[in-house]
Amino acid sequence: MEKMLINGPTKLNGSVRVSRAKNAYLPILAGVLLCEGPVTLKNVPELRDINTMKKLLGNLGVKITGDNSSMTFDSSKIDHVEATYDLVKTMRASICVLGPLLTRFHEAKVSLPGGCAIGSRPIDIHLSNLELLGAEIILEGGYVHAKTKGLKGTSLVLEFPSVGATENILMAAVLAKGNTKIENCALEPEVTDLANFLNAMGAKISGIGTKTLLIEGVEKLTGGEYEAIGDRIEAATYIIAGLMTESEIEVTGFIPEHLEFVINKLKMAGAKFEISENGVKTFPSKLEGIDVDTAPYPGFPTDVQAQFIALATYINGSSVITENIFENRFMHVPELTRMGADITLKGNAAIVKGGKELIGAPVMCTDLRASAALVLAALVAQGETEVQRVYHLDRGYEKLAAKFKELGANIKRMD
Ligand code: UD1
Repeated sequence: MEKMLINGPTKLNGSVRVSRAKNAYLPILAGVLLCEGPVTLKNVPELRDINTMKKLLGNLGVKITGDNSSMTFDSSKIDHVEATYDLVKTMRASICVLGPLLTRFHEAKVSLPGGCAIGSRPIDIHLSNLELLGAEIILEGGYVHAKTKGLKGTSLVLEFPSVGATENILMAAVLAKGNTKIENCALEPEVTDLANFLNAMGAKISGIGTKTLLIEGVEKLTGGEYEAIGDRIEAATYIIAGLMTESEIEVTGFIPEHLEFVINKLKMAGAKFEISENGVKTFPSKLEGIDVDTAPYPGFPTDVQAQFIALATYINGSSVITENIFENRFMHVPELTRMGADITLKGNAAIVKGGKELIGAPVMCTDLRASAALVLAALVAQGETEVQRVYHLDRGYEKLAAKFKELGANIKRMD
């Protein structure tokens, strides 16, 4: 079983460049299905989730050439419209192929993602809005089977600004006949990046970066070249590592504005930063308890909640961290407790008493961001932490052990 051995406590120094965002590239990879010409994507991160999406595209008939630095996708000949359970069950974002397949090929069969470690995560908003665009949807044998004689633009209001639903519906609307208005869209930078990608391929989307997207349907998307934004969640993870280890490190390759809420929260807690156009430098700072509530962008990202709990266990004072997006996203808490953290769960809030000395222990990854929290705790814990099931980290952190090693951490991966 793959694991990581981390010896702490450690000081970090130097600079780390984050990869291009997985959560931007996953919907963009689904968006490739809309394009009749070849699409070249630059600096695609080498991650399990990306490989799963590539496999899914390959099964549908997309020809993929090149390597991660420059990868070309040819979707001119698609011979299947089915995304099977074995792939969808490992990655919920697979549902994003539903909109593109349906709008371009008028049929799609995608396995229902089902529950996952962080909650039940339904797809009702995706399906009800695709129906309003003219899809006939049947749920059978664990699959969503969607058909249409051709989607038609209309006005839609999302009942919640779901990231995946906004992306799926946006992609469906791009080739629908006429105009579509989507209100209450998700504002996450990855949604904006997808819209920019689609426009670069010939779509006509306006209102990008606002809560209302307007889409003028086009006959086809061509192809072209695109590079996604830097990974703000990976960046936040390294920034928190810099602060927890009281180190001066530079985190580059992303747009700091995408982490404005996180950076401001950290500043309020006492963190000292130097912010440049494409990065953040941390300085040794004395932090005091922080209260955060996760919320849709531009609020505090749920994907940084686990890392914040790791930080809160280490800094002085008490913190209350409330999770409002997912119902079961505290699986890192029992593992952190095994390392000496003092955390009480009350409903959807974690009450953390900080200033505890963490002690290395064998711990188990349960989901992507929970795993990142364990690595952060291990960096400041006394002695050795054995982080098991690191395949969760491979879903979303490119070369995590190598990047931390480069920053000076005593971290070893055992495959
Ligand atoms: C995306 C991100 C994930 C992040 C999340 C919230 C990708 C690949 N994943 O996930 O890392 O944690 O945004 O920022 O980009 N919901 C419904 N019905 C729906 C759709 C969603 O009830 O039809 C609920 C979900 O169960 C969840 C909440 O809405 O409680 C947010 O989900 P959503 O924004 O859709 O997240 P994802 O797109 O799955």
